[in-house]
Amino acid sequence: MARHAHYIDGEWIDGEETFESENPATGESLGSFPRGTEADVAAAVDAAESAFEEWRELSYIDRAEHLWDVYTELKDRTDELGELVTRECGKEINEGRADIVEAAHMVEWAAGNARHPHGDVVPSEIGAKDAYMRRKPRGVVGCVTPWNFPIAIPFWHMAVALVEGNTVVWKPAEQTPKCAHAIAELMVDAGIPEGVFNMVQGYGDAGAAIVDHDAVDTVLFTGSAEVGHGIADTVGGTPGKLAACEMGGKNAVVVTDEADLDIAVPAAVLSAFKTTGQRCVSAERLIVHTDVYDEFKERFVEAAESVAVGDPLDEGTFMGPLIEAEHREKVTAYNELAREEGVDVLVDRTEFDGEEIPDGHEDGHWVGPFVYETEYDPDLRCIHEEVFGPHVGLIEYEGGIERAVELQNSTPYGLAGSIISEDYRQINYYRDHAELGLAYGNLPCIGAEVQLPFGGVKKSGNGYPSAREIIEAVTERTAWTLNNAEDIQLAQGLSAELKTDDE
Ligand code: UN1
Repeated sequence: MARHAHYIDGEWIDGEETFESENPATGESLGSFPRGTEADVAAAVDAAESAFEEWRELSYIDRAEHLWDVYTELKDRTDELGELVTRECGKEINEGRADIVEAAHMVEWAAGNARHPHGDVVPSEIGAKDAYMRRKPRGVVGCVTPWNFPIAIPFWHMAVALVEGNTVVWKPAEQTPKCAHAIAELMVDAGIPEGVFNMVQGYGDAGAAIVDHDAVDTVLFTGSAEVGHGIADTVGGTPGKLAACEMGGKNAVVVTDEADLDIAVPAAVLSAFKTTGQRCVSAERLIVHTDVYDEFKERFVEAAESVAVGDPLDEGTFMGPLIEAEHREKVTAYNELAREEGVDVLVDRTEFDGEEIPDGHEDGHWVGPFVYETEYDPDLRCIHEEVFGPHVGLIEYEGGIERAVELQNSTPYGLAGSIISEDYRQINYYRDHAELGLAYGNLPCIGAEVQLPFGGVKKSGNGYPSAREIIEAVTERTAWTLNNAEDIQLAQGLSAELKTDDE
């Protein structure tokens, strides 16, 4: 079986303890990977620190040249890498490919941005002063990434960080180390200098070692709220360090009395079940106006009963398996919890029978949609806690858009959401009052493009570890002012006169 390695200081480095990656649809082993230790992380951070001085001296454009090579490979190898994503993280093949396309877009944005202006020329009260903003790289950037977008999200973090002149130590998710290995190979092929890019495979302890290391200036994290809040706490308490974290959500689609149900139903199905509900932006709540409730419910339930769950390599599949057995247990437990909390279950495809499981896939982590309806109740855990699976509750509301938005905002999270309505006043009210980082009108609440900032408010995140907004996390700004006159003049009416006792 293929044996893989860490990539530290320009070398493939083996480790003593290993772990395996498994195909979540079949249980087949995809290879063995070294489990990173604190010592591996320390070696990677040392390498990144040493490489920083030279890397930062290159021009943006020279640094971006390496990324253009990565971009070309991602474009040329979309099908092959997309299939790898599908095999290792279980997303159906169209989504496997979209992961590579999104990665390519991110790399394209970061490398293209190298030729764009980086800062502002700012006016001064004093005619002889030039004032402008300059950006500098922060240094060593630690990246901790999830398994659900195993190629795209690492590039959200690393593409901009590298072009801006930082060096990187990356700990990929333990569920998708083979995708991570493929990324490291792309970086090596692109000739990124030794120590500039480092990858340590492994589990949460390796991620924690990155977060705790004194020489890591910035931590970028995308993943669970539990881990993200821990990182924000640790890093926030260390002067000079910074963390940008994007975490989960308990996202909702609002369907108003003015909704076109031909948009509402597919938008809800895509939001709830694409990626088997395993996007941070997936919807687990559908907040539906009483006037359209019955028809919406009937159509949504029919769709949930019939969406194709199965072999993710099959083009006819809509939902692949969940990522791992432990996660299947969590989703199943939440389905049971909803029942215990007294909701009315409308669709329960939690348990698959023999016939539904495709041949050769008996060891996959299968689960189908679970749909229920309930009155809004602030004490119900099932409508407030993130499940990260195809588990969705319908909540009927009466009254105006204000009530729908109140329900939308009734969770501690604030990542993504959408409104389905033909009434621009309702849409604009939602736009201005929904507490969200990513909001959509007449669309599903998934599928953000990389040129938009991606991240949430409230418990869903601080900082934006993606796309153009990541620049704030991986650079420091200097407000630079230069005097062109031969005497000193100060702004704000401040006197520049030196007063002495002799006068
Ligand atoms: C995630 O939800 O974990 O907006 C990332 C989207 C994708 C990224 C999702 N571009 O659906």
